[in-house]
Amino acid sequence: MLAILGGSGLSQLANLENVRRQAVRTPYGEPSGPLTFGRLSGRDVVFLARHGYGHTIVPHDVNYRANVWALHAQGVEGIVSVASVGGIREEFRPGCLVIPDQILDYTWGRSHTFFDGPGVKVTHIDFTMPYSQTLRTRLLLAADSCGEAVFDGGVYATTQGPRLETAAAINRLEHDGADLVGMTGMPEASLARELELDYAAVTVVANHAAGRGGSMNGIQLELIEAVLDDAIRRVRRIIEAMVSQ
Ligand code: HPA
Repeated sequence: MLAILGGSGLSQLANLENVRRQAVRTPYGEPSGPLTFGRLSGRDVVFLARHGYGHTIVPHDVNYRANVWALHAQGVEGIVSVASVGGIREEFRPGCLVIPDQILDYTWGRSHTFFDGPGVKVTHIDFTMPYSQTLRTRLLLAADSCGEAVFDGGVYATTQGPRLETAAAINRLEHDGADLVGMTGMPEASLARELELDYAAVTVVANHAAGRGGSMNGIQLELIEAVLDDAIRRVRRIIEAMVSQ
């Protein structure tokens, strides 16, 4: 069974059948909401809305540990994250879908590891390749099979939010090697790795990053919803193709 962690624009999966919701407690507190179990393209999936079903949880307040733990506890084969981002690399224009292959972390103050607390052994994980290549390949094949264009690879920079960045911050991120900027990629990805759970992301470019392209003089927030609506439709098709592989 695959887990889908939906972000802005994806607070539920359409076409989900036999839907059942279940509240789950974890040693780390409550996830963002009850888990939604159902069948998609004839296969079992579990879905969780990262920001809550009413989209009320800001990126730095998401209980990433509880979310990842709760999904892992269902015995899922992996997590596919759907997340909206700003595009830094020139070809990553609004509406593009990108399957990132690397990640940078500029967040702070988030509970970012399972390996702390009294009596917990010091444990380091390998995180050289932060995304599961197996899941990335499945996503790329699924996109191909339903004729949806996606970019293969990109460096996702995770900022603290909830405010968007300054133009100078985006210049710095680009200088650091970032192609995309979002607020939720970390610590989600490393927590999944700590539990040895496959994790990959489909990112939806909602806007040009601050100071770039159409956001040269500011990010037009009112345009984002329409971009996401259309792009999320394509993400749903890819996920449906992926689960039926
Ligand atoms: N910056 C950070 N996070 C985002 C953006 C952005 O420009 N767009 C969507 N999520």
